[in-house]
Amino acid sequence: MTKNLNNKTSSVQGGEIYGDFTSSFDSDIRMYSEDIDVSIAYSNMLSKIGVLTLDETNLINSALEDIRNEIKNGTFKWDKKLEDIHLNIENSMYDKIGEVAGKLHFGRSRNDQVATDSRLYFIRKIDFLNTLIIDFLQELVKLSEKNISIMLPGYTHLQKGQPILISHNLMSYFSIISRDLRRFLNARNNLDNMPLGSGAFAGVTIPIDREYLASELGFSNISSNSIDGVSSRDHILDILYSCSSIMINLSRISEELIIWNSEEFDFVNIPDEFTTGSSIMPQKRNPDYLELIRGKTGHSLGQLVNLATSLKGLTFTYNRDLQEDRKGAMDSIEIVTQSLEVIKNLFSKISFNEEKMIDSANKSNILATDFADYLANKKIPYREAYKIIKDISLNLKGKYIHELSLDELRQFSKLFEKDALDISLRNSIENRNSTGGTSTNSVRNQIIEAKNFLKKNKNAK
Ligand code: ARG
Repeated sequence: MTKNLNNKTSSVQGGEIYGDFTSSFDSDIRMYSEDIDVSIAYSNMLSKIGVLTLDETNLINSALEDIRNEIKNGTFKWDKKLEDIHLNIENSMYDKIGEVAGKLHFGRSRNDQVATDSRLYFIRKIDFLNTLIIDFLQELVKLSEKNISIMLPGYTHLQKGQPILISHNLMSYFSIISRDLRRFLNARNNLDNMPLGSGAFAGVTIPIDREYLASELGFSNISSNSIDGVSSRDHILDILYSCSSIMINLSRISEELIIWNSEEFDFVNIPDEFTTGSSIMPQKRNPDYLELIRGKTGHSLGQLVNLATSLKGLTFTYNRDLQEDRKGAMDSIEIVTQSLEVIKNLFSKISFNEEKMIDSANKSNILATDFADYLANKKIPYREAYKIIKDISLNLKGKYIHELSLDELRQFSKLFEKDALDISLRNSIENRNSTGGTSTNSVRNQIIEAKNFLKKNKNAK
């Protein structure tokens, strides 16, 4: 049986002179399995409403399963002259089962097919990606617990500001990445809306059972407007924004680790397998993996702007520009997936140089705020206390403020008493016991909250 779509419906194709320019192969191929799932659900539905006989449905479904296997094994014969995967699969079905293949397209269009395929594809990808986010969040909690009391200088403007716990810093990563999980869950929720049954854009004349289709395909909702169903792509913008956000955040984490890993800081040891050498400088171990996370971040952002720019000029219903909707998001999800795998494994092997961090904190006036707080606690205005400490810091004569004797301190204020000598990195940290602060107690509470969040979201969809 060679009567195929290629000969039969040349009007469906057109534009094959520049086949590569007009075809959507590169993105379609990645969602072949979803395309076949959608076709099988559709043929089952047509049988349910009596448009296809059971025999016809069985024939169609087994041809579709054969095609699925051929694509999987790489033996499927793609006809590049046919625009996309939908026409290729239909064409191959003609070769396998003849005219009955042509019955499957009754009431459906490639417009609702592609919109449904890509939603399914992205839902499946995001479900996997969310498990990776959870894994990374779990790793952060584990690392925080393991290093709960390790101190380091905290920085603002990349200048030493106040001491903090490394676990506090790690839990700040948890906070921001947990919001990214929410963003992806929200994107998933918007994807979970089945457009199949929209036809070309105006609906269909046969009594299709959309609820049945949705339940066969695992969608919780069906789109309520057929024009919107085939022409909206804001759900892909949601994906790209979620990808952009998590990449920006992973990039910031990477940047912090790169700085901490530099010889000047030496706060953190990045496992060797996440570094590479230089082809000329034998001493180098460069943090390339982290740099690449930072470097790949622009992709999602670029694709977000790319799609938004395409969409802003489109009338409703289908325009061929929409064929460009998914490749950027598919690549972005791939990049986020890889970045999460890298960073999670890197964090599982990272270690901190406590001595270096404490030494760095001690070689600074990082306790200046604590000295000012000490004086303000003696009931003078904080601004006055601040001024006294500022004066001290300008007259240190080579010492740090915490190295001054009581006599030296009292030259600036008689409010200083013996307990001023107790001001230390550890006390500074433990005194910041406000909710969300850096004390061990507060960080432990943050960890409890984080564990509850993880428990709640473990299987979240
Ligand atoms: N190849 C198209 C895409 O990926 C499928 C829909 C084509 N529809 C059309 N009316 N040409 O978006």
